[in-house]
Amino acid sequence: MGREISAPSLFQLGYYWEAKIFLTSVKLDLYTPMGSGPKTAAEIASAVGADPENLERLLDSLVAIGLIHREGIRYANTPVVAEFLVKTSPFYMGELMLLQDEEWEAWGKLEEVVRTGKPPVKGNIFMNRPEVGEKILRVLDRMAKRVAPSLAERIDLSGYKTFLDVGGGAGTFSMAFCKRYPHLQGTLFDLPETLATTQKNIDKEKMTGRIRLVGGNFNLDELPGTFDVVFLSDILHYQTSEENAALFRKLSRAANPGGLIIVKDMFLNEDASNPGWNAIFSIHMMVYSEKGRCFSGSEIRGWLEKAGFHWVTEMERNTVLTAIK
Ligand SMILES: C[S@@+](CC[C@H](N)C(=O)[O-])C[C@H]1O[C@@H](n2cnc3c(N)ncnc32)[C@H](O)[C@@H]1O
Repeated sequence: MGREISAPSLFQLGYYWEAKIFLTSVKLDLYTPMGSGPKTAAEIASAVGADPENLERLLDSLVAIGLIHREGIRYANTPVVAEFLVKTSPFYMGELMLLQDEEWEAWGKLEEVVRTGKPPVKGNIFMNRPEVGEKILRVLDRMAKRVAPSLAERIDLSGYKTFLDVGGGAGTFSMAFCKRYPHLQGTLFDLPETLATTQKNIDKEKMTGRIRLVGGNFNLDELPGTFDVVFLSDILHYQTSEENAALFRKLSRAANPGGLIIVKDMFLNEDASNPGWNAIFSIHMMVYSEKGRCFSGSEIRGWLEKAGFHWVTEMERNTVLTAIK
């Protein structure tokens, strides 16, 4: 069951204006100058390089949306904006919004994609556009920093010695596992294009001796050895069913008997329209990737079982599955 739509909310849905006003405000980085206190439109215009009159009108629309306050002729951030959209904040998440802004053109192709069934882009974004891949990884790193330590806490890895992080990206989960379990040795397998970013992060956290980086393509190459734990986060929704089924067979060969596999993604329920956010994210994959989509938990369970994994458990609803080889 989706959310209930009233007549006003029906028409509201068509008005994407607020979304574009918001994304533009992040792109112009309007909130950082107000990070040091309330500012006039002219002060903000000079800090970000904008036309003062048009900027003032934009600022007033942000007041109307509730993102900032107006105090006389000065504008000030609301607390939530100060936390997430001021560049000097440790919780800055503007890059996530900037990625949405970059996808504006891709979303414009939705009608064409639905009519023709033809993907709007070709190939793997992490291979073909590593500069965009790096931005995606920066955003994923910031988001993962919020959840990885608690995942490492909730999944008991104390009985295992080695793990493989498949498509480990920025390395955030690998590093959280290694920090929580000091005896664990990790191997992170990812595309060579991505590993430059991973290396920087691992060096920064002084984790080089704990995590080995191996470059390759998990759809084409064999995985580098066998492991007690295999971890896979946000990989399945970039791939086709056939690729995922083959990948699980490969992961099964890379898992030691009795080993644990942890699969994290955005799973759909059987009716495919729940959870709502995942169903909508699946449309994002339709316009932004060649073949990506969200899959149901039972499809993933099926691939795991066919590949030789047992005791499939949904550890976190619609997000994390674990199984044993
Ligand atoms: C969405 S990111 C997920 C990163 C990380 N696992 C996380 O959850 O934050 C997908 C990752 O898979 C990697 N990747 C995509 N296709 C790949 C392939 N065919 N072989 C190896 N790595 C791949 C990308 O380079 C990227 O690091």
